[in-house]
Amino acid sequence: MVDAETIANCGFDLQVNKIRRFQVRSDDIFIVTYPKSGTTWMKELVPLVINGGDIDSIKDTPPDARVPHLEFTVSDDPLLKHLQATLGVNEDFDLNKMVSPRTIVSHLEAKYLPQQIEEKKCKVIYVSRNPKDVAVSCFHFVQAVTSSRSSPGYESFSAFLLDFISAKNDAQCVIYGGSLWKDHVLHWWSRRHDSNVLFMFYEDMKQDLIGNIRKVAEFLEVKLDDNVVDKIADHCSFDSMKKNPMALKSDYCSQRLKVNPTQDSPFVRKGKVGGWKNYFTVADNELFDSLYKVWIKDSDLKMQFDL
Ligand code: A3P
Repeated sequence: MVDAETIANCGFDLQVNKIRRFQVRSDDIFIVTYPKSGTTWMKELVPLVINGGDIDSIKDTPPDARVPHLEFTVSDDPLLKHLQATLGVNEDFDLNKMVSPRTIVSHLEAKYLPQQIEEKKCKVIYVSRNPKDVAVSCFHFVQAVTSSRSSPGYESFSAFLLDFISAKNDAQCVIYGGSLWKDHVLHWWSRRHDSNVLFMFYEDMKQDLIGNIRKVAEFLEVKLDDNVVDKIADHCSFDSMKKNPMALKSDYCSQRLKVNPTQDSPFVRKGKVGGWKNYFTVADNELFDSLYKVWIKDSDLKMQFDL
């Protein structure tokens, strides 16, 4: 059951009921992530898997036109329409006019996603990332946003962490509708054996990108030669994406919040596993670990906090 009519995110009003009623096609592919878990990475990778590694055919298309954000595209916020142009997306961009198979991305918690995803058994690729690195990545996003608005931002990572673990819905925060990391991830972890769900780990992708591209291809029932997989891995490596202006040109939130993507984009920033150690104090870590234990006490989910 969803009670709220709208969820505030980054100053947009996301229209829950409209999103829930969105008409899906059975061959739609959904990429679902908690923010800062590798969304941009998967958005770059999936279209290439589908088109057999044809980089030329995607290189001039903005990522948000190739793989649109469900919640931003479906919601009727006039500002969103205006921002589409800034992102290089046609103002009249319409999900209904996209050619199948469509790849659509969402940060929404499962209870807010279109009901038909279940009915039509659409393929869902869920990307998870250890919550300590997610928290640090979110912190950088929020700080980039606030600095671009000349507002003070959080005085420390520790202060941000308190909001992160309680999903306090700061208007500028990346956290959607007060969704906690654990609620987002544990739902899809419990569904990982469903035939239409592929549960991925950011940390696994870091360790073995080629193997994980094969996993995505197998899930999407696409046959790829080894040389094509290598080509996709090369294009989607952190270093290549960091140099790829089109990959950096992404996201309605950063446009809305006037994040300058050319200054160390929060979407392709450090791309490391374990970077949290440079931010968590001993006290932060103790607090987080004790909470995390409670979060996952009934689950066999094992996140990798380091490689
Ligand atoms: P960091 O802020 O830790 O560097 P999202 O796209 O969900 O917002 O996630 C952004 C995070 O994914 C950022 O993490 C970014 O650097 C990382 N990322 C983006 N592309 C990547 C790639 N090709 N390889 C590894 N990490 C990547």
